[in-house]
Order: sequence, then structure tokens, then C-alpha cells
Amino acid sequence: MMTLPHRVRVTDVGPRDGLQNESGIVPLEAKVAFVNRLARTGVAEVEASSFVSPRWVPQLGDAEELFRRIERPTGVVFSALVPNEKGFDRAMNLGDDRPDKIAIFTAASESFSQRNTNATIAGTIERFAPVVEGAKKAGLPVRVYISCVVACPYEGAIAPVKVREVIERLMQIGLDPDRDDFDLGETIGVAAPNDIETLYDELEDLIEPRQTTLHLHDTRGTALACAYVAMQLGVVRFDAACGGLGGCPYAPGAAGNLATEDLVYLCRRMHCETGVSLDRLLEAGRQIAGTLGRSLPGRVFGAETGAGRDSVSAATESTGSGSS
Ligand code: HMG
Ligand code: MG
Repeated sequence: MMTLPHRVRVTDVGPRDGLQNESGIVPLEAKVAFVNRLARTGVAEVEASSFVSPRWVPQLGDAEELFRRIERPTGVVFSALVPNEKGFDRAMNLGDDRPDKIAIFTAASESFSQRNTNATIAGTIERFAPVVEGAKKAGLPVRVYISCVVACPYEGAIAPVKVREVIERLMQIGLDPDRDDFDLGETIGVAAPNDIETLYDELEDLIEPRQTTLHLHDTRGTALACAYVAMQLGVVRFDAACGGLGGCPYAPGAAGNLATEDLVYLCRRMHCETGVSLDRLLEAGRQIAGTLGRSLPGRVFGAETGAGRDSVSAATESTGSGSS
């Protein structure tokens, strides 16, 4: 059997990637309760909202109010998406309630970049360069997402060298893999494990797998297989969303993120630590499913909250993989 890392770091992006993609606007109270519950699951980080234009993503237009109202337990990082200086100012104007980490975003596909941000790849980087500088001055860490690392909803397959070129440009504006978080987005959930291997092969002498975060969408049910291979390659940071919420309004056909419960369950069975309580995650999932009025697509969520729950729980407990 191949070696897995001893521990992986999990960011739950459900309140941001998940709720940005809902057709309706989730009430603020429910968002606050969801973030508060997630923050008590043991995840290292919660991506709580977005300071993007509310014209583009009205679902998260209440980011300020959310950051003012959520609890901030010690040890949990609360991040938010920021596309430009205007978004950065909004976040910083929150004073003590500001996010702990700023997440900027670009893509390895020109078409996706245009549709998602109304700018070329170079344009997005130019636009967020002052944000990077401002975050550094304020002592805030930065996550930089690169979307479409395997494929684009408009252009199809993306050559790994495109991802490499974007990372090189990001390094040129002062982003540093030893300090900042290079987050590789498999935006539309088409990857198979060999795509992940090919991608990391291309990046080999540029950035180490442990210096990247992998952000997988599970549109075709391959996200967990990709995560498993990535762990074997040395990736130790993953984004996932409670219950498998997620998607991007500007990536047609993209479904939810890798479900946090599925990742945590696999890790638990494979003796790889996450520090996350599956029971608490399920509680958070139940709450948001109740608000949305539907079940969530995550496999473990379905197994543990739907029919057959007792027998599944009993089976996993008897093999030492109980859910707390
Ligand atoms: P634009 O229309 O080119 O921007 O959008 P603009 O500068 O011309 O501004 C237009 C209006 O928006 C103006 O208002 C601005 O003030 C306002 P008006 O004067 O017309 O009343 N505006 C803002 N308002 C509040 N906050 C702001 C802000 N910026 C401008 N920050 C822009 C450019 C980047 C703003 C827009 O394209 C945008 O917000 N895009 C974000 C789209 C988005 O959030 N997509 C989903 C997240 S990415 C994702 O899901 C992928 C990921 O999960 C990884 C993966 O899976 O691959 C991260
Ligand atoms: Mg995403």
C-alpha cells in the first residue's frame, strides 16, 4: 500500500463555494449558524464568504454582516474571497472582525477568467497585486486560487503547462509558496487520478505538492480518488465542502466540491489525521440541508443521515472508524 501523510489540513469552503451556487439567497441567520457549527468541527479553516461584487454573486452580498456576527474560536482560520481592491477595502473596514486570510483568484483558462471576473488572466493578476501588497502590510496570509487546472467549462482540457505559467506569474508578483497558499482548483470535476499525477509532474521543479492546496469538485464522482492520489504524491492541504455543497455560477455544469465528510471518512479509515469530528460535520450538514430544504449530495452524508444509517454506523464502528 502506498504511503499517506500522517495528517492533512482541511478547509471547509461550504459557506462560500457552496452558498454562492444556490439559486436562492440563504438567510444570514442560517449562514451564521452554519459557519459557527463548521468552526466547531475541528477543521483548520472555514472559507466563510466573498467580498466580490454583489451584482455578480448576490448570494454572498452580506459578507460584512456575516463576519460581524460569526463566533471566532481560537485556532480556526476564517478566510474570504476578494477579487480586487474594493473587496479588500470592504474586508479591512471590518477592523477586528476582518477575515484572517484573503483569498484571491485567477485561472489557467482565459475564457473562464473572462466569464468569472471580466478580465484576462494577466488582468486579474494586475488587479489583485495591490491586494497582495495590502494583505502583506496587514500581516494577513494570502490564498491564491488558480481555477481550471485540469479543464475549463468553455475551452475543454487545459494543458498543465498553463498552470505552471500562471504560478510563475504569481511568484513574480511576490506570492511565495513558503508563506502563501497556492490553491489548485479543479473547477468542473472532470479529473481522474492520472490527471492529478500529470499536473504535479509538470509542477515538480517549481512548487512542491506540500506547498499547494487541492480544491476538487466532485461532478463525476472522481474527487475522492483524486484526493487519495494527491495525498500519495505529498499533498497535505485540501479544500472540501460540508455535505458536498458547491459549484461556481460562472462554470456551467460544475457540481459540488469534494464533500468534507467523504474526505474525513477516508482519512479516518486510512489512519491519516484530520482533527475533524464527523458527528459535528453531520450536524452542520443537517442544519444547512434543513435550510435549503433538500438533502446534500455527499456520500457519507447520505449514508449517515438517510436510510440504513444504523447499520452503516454499526459497521464502521465495528471496524474502528466510528464517526466522532
Ligand atoms: P466588473 O463588472 O468588471 O467590475 O466585475 P467593475 O470594477 O466594473 O465594477 C462593477 C460594479 O461592481 C461597480 O458598481 C463596482 O463598484 C462594483 P456600480 O458602480 O456599477 O454600482 N464592485 C464591487 N462591489 C462590491 N465589492 C467588490 C466590487 N468590485 C466591483 N469587490 C469583478 C469585476 C471582479 C468585481 C466581478 O467579476 C466579480 O465580482 N466576480 C466574482 C465572481 C465570483 O465570485 N465567482 C465565483 C468565485 S470563483 C470560484 O468559485 C472558483 C473557486 O471555487 C476555485 C475553483 O473551483 O476553481 C475559487
Ligand atoms: Mg470551487
